[in-house]
Amino acid sequence: MVSQRSPRWLLLPAAYAAVASAVAVPSATPTVVVPVPMVAPAPLVTPAAIQFDSTRSYYRRNILSDIEGDGKSILSALGSDIPSYVLSGVPNFFQDFPTGDAVKSSLGISDSDLAATPTQALLIPPYANWTDQGWNVRFHGNIYKTPNISSSKLDDLANKFLIGVELSSLPTDQQNQARNLTKEIFVVQQGGVNVSFHLEPSPSNGASGQPGGGGAITPGGGTQNITFPYETTVEGDFDAFVPIKNVSGAGLLAGNETQNIQRMNVYTNGSIDGNATAYLVPPTGITIISDIDDILRVTKIYEPTEGLLNSFARAFVPWMNMPDIYANWSRSLPNSTHFHYLTTTPEQVTRNYMDFIYKTYPGGSFDTRPLNFSDVNATLSIRLFLLNKIFDTYPERKFVLVADTSNSDVMKDYPLLAHDRPNNVQCIFLRNTSATDSGDKFPYDTSGFQGLNNKSYMFFKTPDDLMGLDIANGNCLNQSILQNLTFGYQDEAIGIHGAAGKTNVRSSAIGSLLIAIVAAMVLMV
Ligand SMILES: *[C@@H]1O[C@H](CO)[C@@H](O)[C@H](O)[C@H]1NC(C)=O
Ligand SMILES: *[C@@H]1O[C@H](CO)[C@@H](O)[C@H](O)[C@H]1NC(C)=O
Ligand SMILES: *[C@@H]1O[C@H](CO)[C@@H](O)[C@H](O)[C@H]1NC(C)=O
Ligand SMILES: *[C@@H]1O[C@H](CO)[C@@H](O)[C@H](O)[C@H]1NC(C)=O
Ligand SMILES: *[C@@H]1O[C@H](CO)[C@@H](O)[C@H](O)[C@H]1NC(C)=O
Ligand SMILES: *[C@@H]1O[C@H](CO)[C@@H](O)[C@H](O)[C@H]1NC(C)=O
Ligand SMILES: *[C@@H]1O[C@H](CO)[C@@H](O)[C@H](O)[C@H]1NC(C)=O
Ligand SMILES: *[C@@H]1O[C@H](CO)[C@@H](O)[C@H](O)[C@H]1NC(C)=O
Ligand SMILES: *[C@@H]1O[C@H](CO)[C@@H](O)[C@H](O)[C@H]1NC(C)=O
Ligand SMILES: *[C@@H]1O[C@H](CO)[C@@H](O)[C@H](O)[C@H]1NC(C)=O
Ligand SMILES: *[C@@H]1O[C@H](CO)[C@@H](O)[C@H](O)[C@H]1NC(C)=O
Ligand SMILES: *[C@@H]1O[C@H](CO)[C@@H](O)[C@H](O)[C@H]1NC(C)=O
Repeated sequence: MVSQRSPRWLLLPAAYAAVASAVAVPSATPTVVVPVPMVAPAPLVTPAAIQFDSTRSYYRRNILSDIEGDGKSILSALGSDIPSYVLSGVPNFFQDFPTGDAVKSSLGISDSDLAATPTQALLIPPYANWTDQGWNVRFHGNIYKTPNISSSKLDDLANKFLIGVELSSLPTDQQNQARNLTKEIFVVQQGGVNVSFHLEPSPSNGASGQPGGGGAITPGGGTQNITFPYETTVEGDFDAFVPIKNVSGAGLLAGNETQNIQRMNVYTNGSIDGNATAYLVPPTGITIISDIDDILRVTKIYEPTEGLLNSFARAFVPWMNMPDIYANWSRSLPNSTHFHYLTTTPEQVTRNYMDFIYKTYPGGSFDTRPLNFSDVNATLSIRLFLLNKIFDTYPERKFVLVADTSNSDVMKDYPLLAHDRPNNVQCIFLRNTSATDSGDKFPYDTSGFQGLNNKSYMFFKTPDDLMGLDIANGNCLNQSILQNLTFGYQDEAIGIHGAAGKTNVRSSAIGSLLIAIVAAMVLMV
């Protein structure tokens, strides 16, 4: 819920199951979650979340750890009023959800139907670093097929995501959006496929809407074909760094002879939709790593009903004048500035996020939640895994990390990186959603910020708070914005706030917290 908001795509069907299991099993006995070994028959017709049973316990674990520490003491103050499953863990709402062949047959798809369906590619906009071998591009994405699902079946599936609201009761545009997302989620990933790409210089208003961060430029050449060295994984994913050639003629600029980002368009062979812009990023400069939900767009994931509609049915809407702030950064920061959009939203919905970002914010590379959860560490901390990957790729860059307080992984990972890599983390900007939005009743933990230079981070309330900062010189705090950090659990919306936050939680606050947690568990988890 509060933490790994983006797995909401995993949560929504779970919520459905939750309602079902609440009806079926009225007893108060907590459900014991038994981690189920991973089964990965290919190809699967299923949302990724459901393919991998390990994600079930994954989510549960996160909630539990969120409630540990200060949060747990807040809860235990309530003693026996707490439903046992709050303390012992969230029931496994994912159980009995059909997987693999069961889903495939429930959709009535035959292998021959599928064989006749064109192969599609999702190419996630890549970034590249400069190495002794030249430019090294991280190609990543997914190969899949979209089954021909009948419209009535599609509406059934969409209704499973829309808890508490019928598809037919939504305005037409929202119905279409919900159907679009349902189609994107119910795809058949294609394992064991060889992938190749065609690269060519991207014109200035390239594939990705706005021209790109800082002074991104179109290289004079570099057109070439690249064969990805591995077949796709069973989940259809590909993800590896591949060196590209400096083809003769007016080629690519070397990373150590330009400060500009170079843009290359990449087309996946054999697919009309597997195109994206790659960003060749020089070794030094600023990279802005930005989350998307509740910082670049209005999601309100902390209000389950709103979060659901904003994610699943309504068109994406920018958060206030945040696009102006990014456009200003893109113009005013040095030419070497690179934008990277890193969200833990599942890969299947990447297109909708890209579509929104490129219409609204500067062009840049992307990371979303990969389907391949076989790396247990990555499963447990996908955001940190992705953050470490990009930090390792640019050991000399300065990173500006942007998100909001309603992600507990952000609240851990961003300050952790600042402690671990003090020379690389330039600024951390966190929108305090609970200070401005009474609907955010989930506490956030500021303990990770203890000991960091207080000019290196800022909790803010409106995009304008970010104006006039000297980011290039590491002055990331707007002195007029009171910070109020307790270095513990906080939540302004329910009054866990200021110096009193740690010790003097009012009982009404405890009550609201508990109600919020329980409501969210029932509704979302
Ligand atoms: C640029 O990088 C290449 C490859 O690492 C290296 O061979 C070359 O000497 C560098 N040039 C400069 C001017 O540093
Ligand atoms: C999808 O299936 C319907 C009937 O179930 C059929 O009329 C339609 O042509 C199919 N579309 C494609 C693209 O195969
Ligand atoms: C993929 O390419 C490799 C190397 O060329 C080849 O050995 C393998 O058979 C190919 N796989 C498929 C499924 O075509
Ligand atoms: C930034 O890049 C543009 C080209 O996009 C160039 O005209 C300008 O001189 C560069 N600025 C600096 C400070 O290098
Ligand atoms: C890339 O491959 C395509 C065929 O897939 C071919 O038409 C084109 O000439 C190749 N380009 C280069 C630069 O090799
Ligand atoms: C590519 O070749 C051109 C011309 O030979 C050279 O100026 C440039 O530095 C080279 N770029 C890379 C990326 O090696
Ligand atoms: C692109 O795919 C076609 C078949 O779909 C194949 O003939 C061609 O060789 C591929 N091109 C490259 C560069 O891999
Ligand atoms: C992909 O190609 C289509 C068709 O040319 C174009 O409309 C779209 O903007 C491109 N998108 C990206 C991300 O490259
Ligand atoms: C859904 O919408 C996105 C963004 O508008 C678009 O790129 C994508 O092709 C659509 N997907 C389907 C399955 O219609
Ligand atoms: C997982 O992370 C732990 C702690 O960071 C580390 O000790 C371990 O080696 C990692 N395992 C793998 C397989 O990367
Ligand atoms: C480029 O990125 C790769 C992959 O993250 C990393 O292993 C390598 O060290 C980086 N190279 C340089 C010169 O930073
Ligand atoms: C800090 O506390 C003050 C006073 O309660 C409040 O007005 C302000 O919004 C808080 N600042 C942030 C960033 O939440």
